[in-house]
Amino acid sequence: GLTNTKEMFAKAVEGGYAIPAYNFNNLEQMQAILQACVETKSPVILQVSSGARKYANATLLRNMARGAVEYVKELGCEIPIVLHLDHGDTFELCKDCIDNGFSSVMIDGSHHSYEENIALTKKVVEYAHAHGVTVEGELGVLAGVEDDVVAEESTYTRPEEVEDFVKRTGVDSLAISIGTSHGAHKFTPEQCTKNEDGVLVPPPLKFEILEEIEKRIPGFPIVLHGSSSVPMDQVEIINANGGDLKAAVGIPEEQLRKAAASAVCKINIDSDGRLAMTAAIRKTMNENPAEFDPRKYLGPARDSLKELYKHKNENVLGSAGKA
Ligand code: G3H
Ligand code: 13P
Ligand code: ZN
Repeated sequence: GLTNTKEMFAKAVEGGYAIPAYNFNNLEQMQAILQACVETKSPVILQVSSGARKYANATLLRNMARGAVEYVKELGCEIPIVLHLDHGDTFELCKDCIDNGFSSVMIDGSHHSYEENIALTKKVVEYAHAHGVTVEGELGVLAGVEDDVVAEESTYTRPEEVEDFVKRTGVDSLAISIGTSHGAHKFTPEQCTKNEDGVLVPPPLKFEILEEIEKRIPGFPIVLHGSSSVPMDQVEIINANGGDLKAAVGIPEEQLRKAAASAVCKINIDSDGRLAMTAAIRKTMNENPAEFDPRKYLGPARDSLKELYKHKNENVLGSAGKA
């Protein structure tokens, strides 16, 4: 069956790698994630956002994830699979997921006051733990759009709060803000420098904050949201085939490798998958204008997505071979 994150995170912190947390909204994304993780023998966290529930229907998504456990057996490798609620914003939403087979939930109280965040998170933890479900909390606010809440500037996690937060809430993992953000436009061109090839290079993540956090809660599982790298080759394919993505900048993979080697044990990636699918679909449609069978463009999109995830597991997160 599905597992919670307890043992998975303990091993990842100990082993200096991170578990991939990939979002899914449809069948092709689910297939790509599972095929990639089976082929690289990686544990995986399947993430469902409230947007995904609205788009695809909660019942269908949940049953797809249950089917995932059987599907990986058919593929020949029983990798550990977590079904996780991404950015839960209320107790009720978390409870609904816990009551309906999720093995892990995030309660994102980061936009509330510190005390309100603690109270909400603690309430979710109590209910979740009574049902064998693990909980991710968040301290600090990511820049950009976090669900419906828009944070103009990122408020980095305050290391002096983490120990108290973790103790008082009982959370199993903590998402932090050290300079990542959601989406394909993580930094404005003004925030970046240009390298010799004219490529925008973003400012580095605040590793000094991460170190300070690790000192205060040694070995505690840390989560990084907003960790897409926004590969330029994919952006170029999109733009060469009728797309219009300007100033797309992500987190360089080197920085994620460094984070994965630390107590960061879950890395969330969604936007890179969106880019890979869009690039493959645009290119296929552009090159085959008479084609109208969705499988003919969703198939290549799924293949491209699978290659992306294998690359992340093998070369960025270090989760390959850890299942
Ligand atoms: O945190 C954001 C994730 O990429 C999910 O995005 O809310 O559009 O499904 P979404
Ligand atoms: P990206 O937008 O960088 O892929 O982040 C995804 C995420 O944090 C999901 O919770
Ligand atoms: Zn996120």
